[in-house]
Amino acid sequence: MQPLHLSWLEAAGVEAAILRLELLDPLLSGNKWFKLKGHLRVAEASGSPGLISVGGAHSNHLHALAAAGQRFGFATVGLLRGELQDTVTVADLQAMGMQLHWLGYGEYRQRHQASFWLPWLQRYSGYHPVPEGGGGLLGTEGCAAIVDMIDSQLADLGWSDYQQLWLAVGSGTTLVGLQLAMPAGRELVGALAVPARYGVGEQIEALLQTARVERRQYRLLEACGAGFGRFDQALLDFMQDCEVQSCVQFEPIYSSKMLLALQQQVAGGYLAAGSRVVLLHGGGLQGYRPVGPDEFSSVRS
Ligand SMILES: Cc1ncc(COP(=O)(O)O)c(C=O)c1O
Repeated sequence: MQPLHLSWLEAAGVEAAILRLELLDPLLSGNKWFKLKGHLRVAEASGSPGLISVGGAHSNHLHALAAAGQRFGFATVGLLRGELQDTVTVADLQAMGMQLHWLGYGEYRQRHQASFWLPWLQRYSGYHPVPEGGGGLLGTEGCAAIVDMIDSQLADLGWSDYQQLWLAVGSGTTLVGLQLAMPAGRELVGALAVPARYGVGEQIEALLQTARVERRQYRLLEACGAGFGRFDQALLDFMQDCEVQSCVQFEPIYSSKMLLALQQQVAGGYLAAGSRVVLLHGGGLQGYRPVGPDEFSSVRS
């Protein structure tokens, strides 16, 4: 964790620090390791030959799953949204030995139904299914450890406490994990990288209920801008300015949208001078490696 120096935070008297989870590992970085470790443990304990999961053609989650499979000796299967696409992420998935199946959009939309998995688990018998984004209770429980990781580094910053923990939200898995471990008196602020109509709020509540968590210390902010995976030049300019000022690399799908939401809250006067906030860097730098000018102009969620 390190101080995050940005002029608009400093002008408002807001102190910020960033947990650099993107530096954890070259391949299993960000929140991915925390979300996957429980799934990997269960797969190992049950003698599964492999793990199977779903995602898009730029998916950070599938990328981390493929890397984990390769590293720990599991086969991996990726069920991909849409029609065959040739992205750098897809090339990596193949290079890491992941077996890919393109589902189109119709079948992919069924991914939250229990019946979705049946034919795939018949075909890949004994494989451990990992919900989208590394979710489910196993994924959330792994993320609870992030709270302790932050607490153990506060003294290095000379902080005894902080008021808000900011993160970008996709499936909501990480946020739920943080809520499991969050002590009272702190607020979790989730910047939604996906449109609210995707039902992430409901998914978060369902997970919290399954985990029997009574407390609610979180707030979700609309932050997806042009849509999930979509961004404009203004966001890229803002991201670049934050990168130059802070010497931290961001990407436009999650972390930049979180930063923009924070800037808007600060500009709106919603954070008092003297507030201390911690931001999670969720990794995901692999997902933004544009190879041509148009590759990211119409990324679909
Ligand atoms: C880089 C990055 N940040 C944040 C998130 C959001 O995490 P979650 O799906 O747990 O809400 C993701 C999704 O996995 C991600 O890839």
